[in-house]
Amino acid sequence: MADYREKARERVKKRCKVCPVCNGKACAGQIPGMGGTGSGMSFQNNLTALAAWRILPRYLHKADNPDTSVELWGQRLSLPVLAAPIGNVVANVGSDMPTEKYTALLIRGCREARTIAAFGDTPQIDPVIKNFAEVGDNGAMTIPFFKPWAPEDLVSRLDMAAGHGCVACGVDVDAAGFPAFRQASRTYGVRSGRDIEKLVGMAHARGMKFIVKGIMALSDARIAVDCGVDSLIVSNHGGRSIDCTPGTAEVLPVIADAVGDRILIMADGGVRTGVDVLRMLALGARLTLVCRPVAVALHGDEENGVRLYFEDLQRELVDAMRLTGCTNVASIDREVLCRA
Ligand SMILES: Cc1cc2nc3c(=O)[nH]c(=O)nc-3n(C[C@H](O)[C@H](O)[C@H](O)COP(=O)(O)O)c2cc1C
Repeated sequence: MADYREKARERVKKRCKVCPVCNGKACAGQIPGMGGTGSGMSFQNNLTALAAWRILPRYLHKADNPDTSVELWGQRLSLPVLAAPIGNVVANVGSDMPTEKYTALLIRGCREARTIAAFGDTPQIDPVIKNFAEVGDNGAMTIPFFKPWAPEDLVSRLDMAAGHGCVACGVDVDAAGFPAFRQASRTYGVRSGRDIEKLVGMAHARGMKFIVKGIMALSDARIAVDCGVDSLIVSNHGGRSIDCTPGTAEVLPVIADAVGDRILIMADGGVRTGVDVLRMLALGARLTLVCRPVAVALHGDEENGVRLYFEDLQRELVDAMRLTGCTNVASIDREVLCRA
């Protein structure tokens, strides 16, 4: 890990300092780049909000060999963590590889680690086509996240996802303000409940589940549920959408308590360790996603770096579950947490 972090630092030095803890301080305001928008507080709040939940250890139990595996829509994953989507790695990560090469390595590394690779969208369709070429015929372990284009503008992207065998696709609704996309189409932007209903119908008609990514407000979560969305991701886009939001771990329990029995909830933002995964699951997420540290791992040792990263995270999660008395991921609940 130390070796690959050094190598990654060389490869992404234009945009990312590969800090000892990826917390949004050194890169505050750097977009394009890896930072959070504006003051960088939305990114930093993700880590602060997670840290505010302390772990309550339990040692007197039988959970000595916890099982971290989880099932998602017919796929068995080795751990409840997915690689989050990332768009335009050249501009954002300062990468020396084109986005489709990044996607190819991410998919390979995630397959080896037995988890799902998500990938992002671009203003032009060509890079999206190239990304799908890397997915090949068996997209069962990849989930594309498209930007909030008008539903009729998403037809070809959804067709591609279904054609490549993806079990699910999503839209990151929190990208509504992104200038490059707004310039590409006049109908790009915030989506109504009616739009979301249409998108759910379009995905289901093609045999895919539909995910809405970027939910922070309970009212949005309720709309997603009412529209028949299969899963929502509590996310603030890694702090890149709007400045000064709460950390996701602040709003997750509110959303999970209100609608967690009606929709599959995932969450991301600042997850760095196995203990953080435990925290997100205890707060009501069934799965979590990690973005920036995966990008660093990939630049450190390509698909091998991705596999190593997830193996490390899994080991940490096993330790965290063992020392809090959780035999499997379904048994992780709020009993393992206490407030700082
Ligand atoms: C450079 C960069 C690019 C991103 N691009 C996308 C994207 O194209 N689509 C998307 O849904 N989320 C995108 N995200 C957000 C991540 O998928 C994820 O929600 C967030 O970064 C998680 O926080 P973390 O980086 O602290 O793990 C991006 C994040 C970063 C840092």
